[in-house]
Amino acid sequence: MIQINYFILILLLASVIILKKCSAIDVYIPNEKYDIANINDLIQHYSLLDKTIKIHITKNYIYSSDMIAQQIHIPENTNITLIGSSSLGTTFDFSNKRNNVNNFFLIFGDNEYFWQQFIIENITFKNFYTYSLQQSLFYISNYKINYKVIFKHCSFVNSDSLILIVDSQNSINKNQLDSHVLFDSCRFKKIKGNGVILLHGKKINNYGIKIIDSEFTSCNNIAKLYFGNIEFDYCKLTNISSSVNSAHFVEMLNDSSLMIKNTVIYNNNNNNNDSIELQKMIPFIRNNGNLMTFHNVTLRNIQNSLGYLINDIGQIRSNSSIYINNSYFESNYRVYNIINRNLY
Ligand SMILES: *[C@@H]1O[C@H](CO)[C@@H](O)[C@H](O)[C@H]1NC(C)=O
Ligand SMILES: *[C@@H]1O[C@H](CO)[C@@H](O)[C@H](O)[C@H]1NC(C)=O
Ligand SMILES: *[C@@H]1O[C@H](CO)[C@@H](O)[C@H](O)[C@H]1NC(C)=O
Ligand SMILES: *[C@@H]1O[C@H](CO)[C@@H](O)[C@H](O)[C@H]1NC(C)=O
Ligand SMILES: *[C@@H]1O[C@H](CO)[C@@H](O)[C@H](O)[C@H]1NC(C)=O
Ligand SMILES: *[C@@H]1O[C@H](CO)[C@@H](O)[C@H](O)[C@H]1NC(C)=O
Ligand SMILES: *[C@@H]1O[C@H](CO)[C@@H](O)[C@H](O)[C@H]1NC(C)=O
Ligand SMILES: *[C@@H]1O[C@H](CO)[C@@H](O)[C@H](O)[C@H]1NC(C)=O
Repeated sequence: MIQINYFILILLLASVIILKKCSAIDVYIPNEKYDIANINDLIQHYSLLDKTIKIHITKNYIYSSDMIAQQIHIPENTNITLIGSSSLGTTFDFSNKRNNVNNFFLIFGDNEYFWQQFIIENITFKNFYTYSLQQSLFYISNYKINYKVIFKHCSFVNSDSLILIVDSQNSINKNQLDSHVLFDSCRFKKIKGNGVILLHGKKINNYGIKIIDSEFTSCNNIAKLYFGNIEFDYCKLTNISSSVNSAHFVEMLNDSSLMIKNTVIYNNNNNNNDSIELQKMIPFIRNNGNLMTFHNVTLRNIQNSLGYLINDIGQIRSNSSIYINNSYFESNYRVYNIINRNLY
């Protein structure tokens, strides 16, 4: 015991010295003690020393066999950044672990905290194949919601599974809209499973997902929301389609909302049979009477064989308006309408 206390004391002193310099602890991995496989031990250890931890990965490539940690526990009141290698970024390659459950569960500390952050920067995640419809690369299970998860300059390439599931355990009523998950300058390519983002579980109002400056290429069913507000700003989506009978772009059930701004969505695969996906009886957006806002949006060559883009059955509704402003919809060969709803 005495020995252990002494050890901690020394580290605390060391942290004071580090703090003076940069007000955060920078840890470089792999080092002689820590790597991705025991990242929870690292986080646990350094969170006793500082409330801001920056973990720099110095390797360019990490195979899934090097990752043991599946649940990343984020201690209360601690901000953590995981940063890919400063030269080329870091790639997490899951291809040698097919069929295994090998995703990242993010678990936030249970006690009260104030907007703690988990930031993932300059990391590519690729070849995440699980052959399971309910699997996702990141899984956030919440009891509380004062947190932000930020993906910055990240790429998600080749997957048959979702990228993010937010699974809410408690109904929460908030009056203010906040963004809890932010994808900033990210790339999504060939995410061809059951969707990219799924919010489900108990209802949280005003839970926000924001996607800015990002690109989606050849992805299926971008988002499915049982609650939450999703916003796309300055995004580009190309060749999106649907693997299941839901919606190519966004499906909103229950209480949710969609805002798209400064975004271009187009398909250029009309000349071959890839576009058969889009010809199916699947709408671009499926809605249940929730608020939708389009501002400076261009949709080009988005079509199906329904004759309309948005299927809005309009049942749930605190605010069932659709606002379309400054937007441009163009199709080479089909006429479409928006059904069931008033336009403002
Ligand atoms: C974590 O980061 C957020 C946003 O920058 C900040 O408001 C909060 O105070 C930070 N928390 C701690 C414990 O430093
Ligand atoms: C992440 O990558 C971007 C673009 O390559 C670079 O500008 C930025 O400095 C990198 N961030 C970090 C923390 O290394
Ligand atoms: C969503 O709506 C369905 C039926 O419309 C209902 O059974 C379900 O409980 C609702 N879920 C939430 C999270 O409110
Ligand atoms: C509209 O969106 C495009 C990107 O799709 C952007 O380049 C342009 O600046 C936006 N226009 C305005 C007025 O914000
Ligand atoms: C979209 O699909 C077409 C035809 O399959 C392909 O030629 C084009 O490169 C794709 N676009 C992107 C951005 O991947
Ligand atoms: C597309 O599919 C149709 C019917 O399945 C077929 O007749 C046609 O030859 C195909 N076109 C191409 C370019 O493969
Ligand atoms: C619906 O939402 C819009 C945009 O947030 C707001 O301007 C409008 O007042 C709302 N309408 C109702 C009936 O709440
Ligand atoms: C519609 O777009 C115009 C031009 O960008 C802007 O001035 C106006 O405020 C927008 N209206 C709404 C309701 O967003």
